[in-house]
Amino acid sequence: MIPWTLLGTANIPNNGGELRLTQREDDFSIHLKGVRGELMNSRVHCSELALAELGCAHIQGMENTKVLVGGLGMGFTLAAALKATSISSQVVVAELVPEVIEWNKGPLGECAGRPLDDNRVLVHLGDVAELFKTKQATYDAVLLDVDNGPEGFTQANNNKLYSIESLQAIQQTLHPGGVLAIWSAWHDPKFTQQLKKARFKVETKTVRAHKGKGSRHTIYLARKK
Ligand SMILES: C[S@@+](CC[C@H](N)C(=O)[O-])C[C@H]1O[C@@H](n2cnc3c(N)ncnc32)[C@H](O)[C@@H]1O
Repeated sequence: MIPWTLLGTANIPNNGGELRLTQREDDFSIHLKGVRGELMNSRVHCSELALAELGCAHIQGMENTKVLVGGLGMGFTLAAALKATSISSQVVVAELVPEVIEWNKGPLGECAGRPLDDNRVLVHLGDVAELFKTKQATYDAVLLDVDNGPEGFTQANNNKLYSIESLQAIQQTLHPGGVLAIWSAWHDPKFTQQLKKARFKVETKTVRAHKGKGSRHTIYLARKK
């Protein structure tokens, strides 16, 4: 069996531990050191694409739209958001870990076709939560995939993102009819209720990790009324 090669390490802010980038032949993995587990693997990315396809379906063909992607990971969701939006649109990508952005500028960037090179992309280096403080209607879609589901995984601080207060703040950054889409490795009916309490109109979609097969992931689609 060919071993994985360590390409880089990074400290996750707020004592989140160590993030590692490894490669085995054409496969890349971003994971947390120790037993905490994998954040992203390049072999399995259909549901990351679906996050953008489903979250941007309502703005297909529209000009001058603005989409926020949190976080960058391997860039699959960012690439799919660029594909799903018009040439006059802007896609902001928020990434907490500076090294993840650097890794995407190297060989890792090939996985998703180097979306950072697209001049419609604006990079926000920092916590995506900072962008929800404005409370001004800014985005047509917010696509969130910063953990493995609606609970803090990359850093404990992310738990706050899924609170009612944070969901209400996110809603205020959306234009009417705008969509908050959240990726999750599991389906949690309590989180659907949480989104409803924040006054979103909610539906969930089950998507497969590989085309038509593999693990079942959930995309929460929460529309601002
Ligand atoms: C699961 S990966 C994203 C995978 C991505 N959807 C893709 O297509 O490759 C999660 C990413 O979110 C970043 N992240 C975690 N917490 C964050 C936060 N609070 N703000 C911004 N980025 C964050 C991580 O560093 C990591 O790069």
